[in-house]
Amino acid sequence: MPNSPFSKTPPLAPGLPFVGSILALSNDAQDFFYTQYRELGPVFRVKALGNEFKVLAGPEINMMMGTQSDAFSAWDTWEPVVRDFGGQKTITMLDGPEHARMRRLMRKSFSREALVSNVPQVVGLITEFIRQQELGKHIPASRFMQHITANILGVLSNERVPSEYFDDIVTWWTTLLEVHISHLKPASVLQTPKYQHARQRAKEFASLVFEERKQNRPAEDEDNLLDNLADASSQDPDFLSHEEALFLTLAGYFAGLDTVANVSSFMLYELLQHPDILADARAEADRVFADGVPTAESFRTMHTLHVVAQETLRLYPIAGVLLRKAARDLEYGGYVIKKDEHFMIANAAPHFLSIVA
Ligand code: HEM
Repeated sequence: MPNSPFSKTPPLAPGLPFVGSILALSNDAQDFFYTQYRELGPVFRVKALGNEFKVLAGPEINMMMGTQSDAFSAWDTWEPVVRDFGGQKTITMLDGPEHARMRRLMRKSFSREALVSNVPQVVGLITEFIRQQELGKHIPASRFMQHITANILGVLSNERVPSEYFDDIVTWWTTLLEVHISHLKPASVLQTPKYQHARQRAKEFASLVFEERKQNRPAEDEDNLLDNLADASSQDPDFLSHEEALFLTLAGYFAGLDTVANVSSFMLYELLQHPDILADARAEADRVFADGVPTAESFRTMHTLHVVAQETLRLYPIAGVLLRKAARDLEYGGYVIKKDEHFMIANAAPHFLSIVA
């Protein structure tokens, strides 16, 4: 049956012999995926440096991830990352009840409420960090935003800023991502003394905050990330080993550091490119800060900043591609992705579709 979705082969994106589409991908991956989606349809193949992979794109696949979660597995994507730290599993790899249980452990520190109940502290951290900067000095935006973000995430999830551990945490996490998730670096960099030192320091930091909390844990029960991780790992180590608890102690950094810092850097860039919008955003900030530290409610009235953030997320997708394995045969766009096949979801391709009235 040549036209059966099971036997059809998706079209191949244009590329050169052997290197395939690597140049277009490294130049602008989002533009590449969007263009191929428009020209080849929702399922296509890409070759890069001798490897071939299938890409699924379009609003429908994004919806399917929410409605048919039993079809997708992220286990293989994240397993090498957590294994490098000495664990076997983490939140992004799990599905079903185990996933729900791990989310509950982390809920308090990762919720909107965690931020809302700490607005004065967060504003204080940002103000203090900005005060420490030297006037007139050039500052790389993403590094600056990483620092601010790390301080906020540290206080919200670990009750402590990372201070002298900041560089090590950044090196540890970005190297792991570049090796195992974006595949921009070879696995051999994980053996370099620089990386090994950074990982050991990241672990040391996680142990430190874990122990500090243990010594100073209040008598009354709180829904606190560190307490939840400590209890789960001592009561049910099969569910959460000590190493996995330490890994999740740093979850704020690895989930939020690059994502938030990069989005904020692009926001700043776009604001500086659009002086009229920047003037509106400044006026809005002056209004909200007129009576001192704003409340969570007054932040909600910052319409300009909100739409700038939304538009930045659309234009500069920070996690525009997700790697998955088919947990069962999966039919999409007239093709079948067979159980256990690995593929990419170009989840940001619809960001660039024109609006049809
Ligand atoms: C603009 C900022 C952010 C973006 C674009 C972003 C994007 C994403 C994406 C795409 C995933 C899914 C990854 C996958 O399944 O392979 C994810 C998962 C996750 N993110 Fe974020 N994220 C952001 C900020 C944050 C922050 C600040 C935190 C924590 C403080 C956070 C915590 C998490 C957690 C815990 C997961 C795993 C959720 C689960 O599997 O249940 N993220 N994020």
